Amino acid sequence: MYNEINLDNIDLRQEPPLEEPARQYYFMAECRQYTKRFFEENGRLPSASVHTFGCQMNARDSEKLIGILEKIGYEMTEDEHAELVLYNTCTVRDNANQKVYGRLGFLNTIKKKNPHMKIALCGCMMQEPSVVEKLQKSYRFVDLVFGTHNIYKFAELLASSLESDRMIIDIWKETDKIVEELPADRKFFFKSGVNIMYGCNNFCSYCIVPYVRGRERSRKPEDILQEIRRLVQDGVVEVMLLGQNVNSYGKNLEHPISFAELLQEVEKIEGLERIRFMTSHPKDLSDELIEVMKNSEKICRHMHLPLQSGSSRLLKIMNRRYTKEQYLALVEKLRNAIPDISLTTDIIVGFPGETEEDFRETLDVVRKVRYDSAFTFIYSKRTGTPAAVMENQVPEDVVKERFDRLLQKVQEISKRTSSRFEGQTMPVLVEQVNEQDSRLLTGRLSNNLLVHFPGTENLIGKIIDVKLEESKGFYYMGSYK
Ligand code: 5AD
Ligand code: SF4
Repeated sequence: MYNEINLDNIDLRQEPPLEEPARQYYFMAECRQYTKRFFEENGRLPSASVHTFGCQMNARDSEKLIGILEKIGYEMTEDEHAELVLYNTCTVRDNANQKVYGRLGFLNTIKKKNPHMKIALCGCMMQEPSVVEKLQKSYRFVDLVFGTHNIYKFAELLASSLESDRMIIDIWKETDKIVEELPADRKFFFKSGVNIMYGCNNFCSYCIVPYVRGRERSRKPEDILQEIRRLVQDGVVEVMLLGQNVNSYGKNLEHPISFAELLQEVEKIEGLERIRFMTSHPKDLSDELIEVMKNSEKICRHMHLPLQSGSSRLLKIMNRRYTKEQYLALVEKLRNAIPDISLTTDIIVGFPGETEEDFRETLDVVRKVRYDSAFTFIYSKRTGTPAAVMENQVPEDVVKERFDRLLQKVQEISKRTSSRFEGQTMPVLVEQVNEQDSRLLTGRLSNNLLVHFPGTENLIGKIIDVKLEESKGFYYMGSYK
């Protein structure tokens, strides 16, 4: 297995191999020369700080980037006073971009005191040409910029950067390549994200993701199953299958397979206890999948089903390819098959042309579905998407007023909905010591709700039965015997 390769056994007098991932291990070995030299000169290892913005896909990518850095010999730290600071960025809404620019200003002041510091940026935001232009013009102190398609080349890019004072920029428009078997450092030893596909083909008219993540590419089922088996051997009991649109998994493979079929194969893996997945597109959610979920022992009782808007008129302009009625029918089908399922969603307020009437349709769906929780977003104009040039952009004050009304409704409903299990005893995967109160542990129910209860650290990573004593709205307080 590549992961177990000892970098010291790689002969750097040879030319770097052309095939992946061997090539990246060669460059990891080269970077390791740097960390060794640093240690000799400074009596400590160089430190690296990785910061992640955005979604679960980015979180998983960061685990891979950190895995590579640890293999090279960096000491990981949260502190941005480090020899290497890497931001894995998001660009789904403009405020994510603004946050990065703001923090770059702060990094610049740190770098002035530590000229050897390297600043690297990667992720979705870097796939936008206007961002790279701005960096080249106004942020010359950034050392390395790469994108989403060549993230597997991180070691090679870092090796070039360590040898050079120039700003290195390497952004690819597309790729059909999927490189696996690079190191990864899991944040939790007992659970892991697993990419099953990359990219998105849907082109919802407000969304920048298809432009920055490219077209849909599914990994082969054998590779996914192999990765999960190894994770399970390594102590993982819960996996989250990741993709922008998991319901269309496998359609473009040489031997097509459905997402439901993949789930059935994953279910067979012995030792694996829980399966989650993210994100489902309502237009592709099949009866077959509902049936598989219903009969499964391991698939968690949770479905994240982005609504975006409750207005069929807006949904059409958003290019979502379902109507309000179809969405509600789907919810009913899910609830009939799996009565205790928890439903969560994403909603956008203030899409161009949204009228009060459209907005009320959204509120109506929220009322009818009774979500366990909902992520609500103010529409953000993303240059290059069809919606950015639509007329009738909604005035800011109107959007804000609607957003507040929606948030209030969502909170009121989710408080009631998520308390429905009060008094029951349910299996919980213990995730961590409570961040606020170290006498408590925090665990996750199958339906994704959290419960805090008194307990000791040795339970972390185990699935245990916890009594849900009291609902606090978005979480429970519980007890464990
Ligand atoms: N503005 C606001 N929210 C957006 N999302 C995607 N694009 C935009 C945008 N331009 C939201 C959608 C999606 C979630 C990940 O982000 O609700 O489901
Ligand atoms: Fe964006 Fe739509 Fe693809 Fe989700 S399905 S990533 S919202 S284009």
